[in-house]
Amino acid sequence: MKLYYNIKQIYEPKEGNKMKAIEIRNKYLNFFKSKGHSVIPSAPLIPENDPSVLFNTAGMQPLVPYLLGQKHPSGTRLTDYQKCLRTNDIDEVGDNRHLTFFEMLGNWSLGDYFKEESIAMSYEFLTKELGIPNEKLSVTCFKGDDDCVRDNVAYEAWKKAGIPDERIYFFGKDDNWWIAGEEGPCGPDTEMFYDTGKPKCSPECNPSCGCGKYVEIWNNVFMEFYKDKNGYSKLEQRNVDTGLGLERMTMLLEGKETPFDTELFKPVMDLLSKLQTNDNIQSRRIVAEHIRSSVMVINDGGRPSNVDRGYILRRLLRRMTRHLNKLGIDLEKLPEIIDCSIDCIKELYPELEKTREEIKKVIVEEKDKFMKTLQNGEREFDKVAKYLKNNGKTKLETESVFNLYETYGFPPEMTEELAKEQGLEVDMTDFKRLFEEHQEKSRLGSEQKFKGGLASTGEKEIMYHTATHLLNAALRVVLGDHVHQKGSNITEERMRFDFSHPAKMTDEEKQKAEDLVNKWINEKIDVTCFEMKKEEALKSGAECQFPERYPDVVTVYQIGDVSKEICGGPHVKNTGELGVFKIKKEEASSSGVRRIKAILE
Ligand code: ALA
Repeated sequence: MKLYYNIKQIYEPKEGNKMKAIEIRNKYLNFFKSKGHSVIPSAPLIPENDPSVLFNTAGMQPLVPYLLGQKHPSGTRLTDYQKCLRTNDIDEVGDNRHLTFFEMLGNWSLGDYFKEESIAMSYEFLTKELGIPNEKLSVTCFKGDDDCVRDNVAYEAWKKAGIPDERIYFFGKDDNWWIAGEEGPCGPDTEMFYDTGKPKCSPECNPSCGCGKYVEIWNNVFMEFYKDKNGYSKLEQRNVDTGLGLERMTMLLEGKETPFDTELFKPVMDLLSKLQTNDNIQSRRIVAEHIRSSVMVINDGGRPSNVDRGYILRRLLRRMTRHLNKLGIDLEKLPEIIDCSIDCIKELYPELEKTREEIKKVIVEEKDKFMKTLQNGEREFDKVAKYLKNNGKTKLETESVFNLYETYGFPPEMTEELAKEQGLEVDMTDFKRLFEEHQEKSRLGSEQKFKGGLASTGEKEIMYHTATHLLNAALRVVLGDHVHQKGSNITEERMRFDFSHPAKMTDEEKQKAEDLVNKWINEKIDVTCFEMKKEEALKSGAECQFPERYPDVVTVYQIGDVSKEICGGPHVKNTGELGVFKIKKEEASSSGVRRIKAILE
């Protein structure tokens, strides 16, 4: 099943045939029960004993051992509803079709019935139970290749059910082959599509076309293969694995154009419209969708963090917070919005009643945490964007993306989204390397118990150390506030200073920076030092290269109103002690980072 909703013109349910999500689910489970299936419970969204996947992404996932041959205690015919979360498309949410969390209704044959019976049951359910007319249905089958023959059995089964030739299509692996990831049980599938009645977008228009004429509603996978690095082999048993998306079917049977117009979302969408001061439908969808997914993840034990599942939850919540802010909604209203979101789905997931208060607490706490840095981060982003635009550039360097992540907790995808809104691109090529380097540095940092960055501190080194603060401040005046220290190295003979800046400095800029440092030296400014809470120091605008490496209470070195930095010291007492400052060289250090070598004479 492809996880999108693509529909312009929709199925008109007959009067009295409108079906709520819970009714569709109940009909489904009862139907398959009547066909000899055991109804098994939905597994948690977070897989148990399976570190290889972050979340369940399909109904078959918790059943893999049984698809591979292990005996299931409930027999060979199973049916359930499964809570799923697919995270590949998080950034697509906001359009009229993508969802991250969804419910998949499924039925399985574990070495029991196969293609014919599976197709006959699906056809009966769609037409008799849900009342969808035959002429609204089109189907696709696997066309065959070197790994597996053309699926004539499925084709014949559809013909027998009553689907005419012209509505049976054949496609290759891209469309009609299903596997979860790279390795595992898999096989050809047959997919069912609802024809919206829209005209064909071209003479070739067919169910694999994304124009919106056809909406995929159900996928039956005939799992008789196993794929690994060496290719395909036959499984011991022939299985059937099916998946029907509840939100999509609800949309069709409620007669709505998007899932956001169904009862699963509409009350939240309406509440957001009422509370907003800036109208933006994408932002409303993002908020409604991400809250719903977060509610379900937290309900199953997920908590925001910086790794794996926790990081996905954090991304959802941070993106949600930004869009809530964009809508101009009073953030105090967040608990009310969460309550409304839970009310929309509590009939489907009554367990939410027990976790409701805890869910609200987790979401509000994460929102509060992020709000502390969101505004400063957005301001930082605006500065960089302005600099790029003023200089005719269109691409944000990885370094800036990384800085926003490191200092303000902006997930890179969020920076990408901000950039897009301003017509800018981002360069992500080096992000992974920077991230790994950062982790390594943090590790070394915590192992060494940060010493203040100076291994040996002779008189000359102390002078150079103070000079780095002056240079940092001068560069921020000359080049802009996007400049931050990215590293430094000091010997008795010279200083090296790395800083974020997307372009080579001109001679004039270098001269200006040098002059400014010398001006401050000549002004003989006192260097003062005091202790402060880290959070307050950062809030007051103190520069800091590695905030996470410092304890809660930090020393701040201030040079008049020229510079303020969180730093372990030591420093000279007065800038007058430094002599004459000279820039010897300005060069690239890494992507988006420049390096200055300078001396004090
Ligand atoms: N596992 C199949 C899917 O997710 C049914 O589409």
